[in-house]
Amino acid sequence: MQLSTVLTPTFQSTKALLVNILLMHFTTLIAFAAGALSAPVSDPTADGFPNPGPAQLLAIQKKAGGYLPNGPLPTTLSDSAITSLQLIATNELFEVAFFSDLLSNITTNTPGYQLEDIAPLNRTYVIMSLNAIVNQEKLHALGANAILANANQSPIAPCQYTFPVQDFVDAIVLAQTFTDIVLGALPDVQFQFAVDGGDEPPGVRLLGSIIAQEGQQDGFFRYAEGKDKTPSAAPFLTGGLSGYAFTALQSFIVPESCPKPLNTINLPTFKPLTLQTQVEARNMTLTFGVEDAIGREDEEFSVVYLSGQNLPLVVPISNVRSVQGPNIESLFDAEFPFEAGFANGVTIAAVVKGKGPFASAAAVVSQTVYGPALIEAN
Ligand SMILES: *[C@@H]1O[C@H](CO)[C@@H](O)[C@H](O)[C@H]1NC(C)=O
Ligand SMILES: *[C@@H]1O[C@H](CO)[C@@H](O)[C@H](O)[C@H]1NC(C)=O
Ligand SMILES: *[C@@H]1O[C@H](CO)[C@@H](O)[C@H](O)[C@H]1NC(C)=O
Repeated sequence: MQLSTVLTPTFQSTKALLVNILLMHFTTLIAFAAGALSAPVSDPTADGFPNPGPAQLLAIQKKAGGYLPNGPLPTTLSDSAITSLQLIATNELFEVAFFSDLLSNITTNTPGYQLEDIAPLNRTYVIMSLNAIVNQEKLHALGANAILANANQSPIAPCQYTFPVQDFVDAIVLAQTFTDIVLGALPDVQFQFAVDGGDEPPGVRLLGSIIAQEGQQDGFFRYAEGKDKTPSAAPFLTGGLSGYAFTALQSFIVPESCPKPLNTINLPTFKPLTLQTQVEARNMTLTFGVEDAIGREDEEFSVVYLSGQNLPLVVPISNVRSVQGPNIESLFDAEFPFEAGFANGVTIAAVVKGKGPFASAAAVVSQTVYGPALIEAN
């Protein structure tokens, strides 16, 4: 195929296709965390990462387009900052593994990753972009671990991972989704660093630079997904996601594979909430599933949505019914009032005890029983 053809958006990036892919992701993401879909992978890089020597680090920095910050690091960290940095390092290590694997799939022309056939982009440019991204993520991971180490905390080492995707478009949609989670979680960490005082406030700037960087990546992912999407999703992206990032991340980690057991990180893990409906960017009714037999009266639980910078929106659940499926015992419905002011991009749904109202995402997290379900509308 000619490059001019490659440059034309030829693949069938209809909304329906993306929605199907998304539905597949969010179901698999939550339901097949044990790695049934693909063989687990470890980071396949040979540049010394995550413990590069000086020459190897130099090479990583060159490929990343810039260097690790050279200013002083904090020498003390609050307990909550340690937890946040452990989460950030765990996530960045996952991202390194993901983008390394994606890059390798593309460069080796793995079926589903033969870009001439399926992507709207110049293959050389995609490879160049992913090469930068994987090395930038390495520096994010090394940076988080360096801050931990400087405050006498042990660094986080890579786990084994499993990715519920088998082709380029799925992989890019997934990359967009987990990047959206990061973009919604890091501002919470900035807030925490700011109010903690001590040595942490300079970290607010550092995290600001990482948020912007991940935003650049996200624009590229949205562009690469096809012509229906603008690179920038919404004026204000979905925030308040730090409480859900750890649960979402665990769906890509092979259980028991982390050198530092995940249960030693002081963050909650919620029970799975599986979305059963193909979501579109309009008002609609969604069906969710959970692994427990929940009461017929829908008094006990509500669904809460986090979208944009809006206050959490609580909707009742209805039509609770029992099913006998793998990992799902109850289904129920909830309205998804997208046209009541939701942002394009990711919306988080969670099932909480009670009816709220909730003044903040943190208040929602504290009442969460099932979630998050990751909803990408547009
Ligand atoms: C790479 O390809 C393999 C084989 O199709 C697949 O299982 C894996 O999920 C892919 N990885 C990524 C990041 O797309
Ligand atoms: C594809 O991208 C590479 C890297 O940006 C560039 O050198 C090349 O000219 C591009 N090909 C076409 C046909 O535009
Ligand atoms: C969408 O739902 C909201 C909340 O129920 C409602 O206010 C709005 O009028 C609905 N919009 C459309 C176009 O149906």
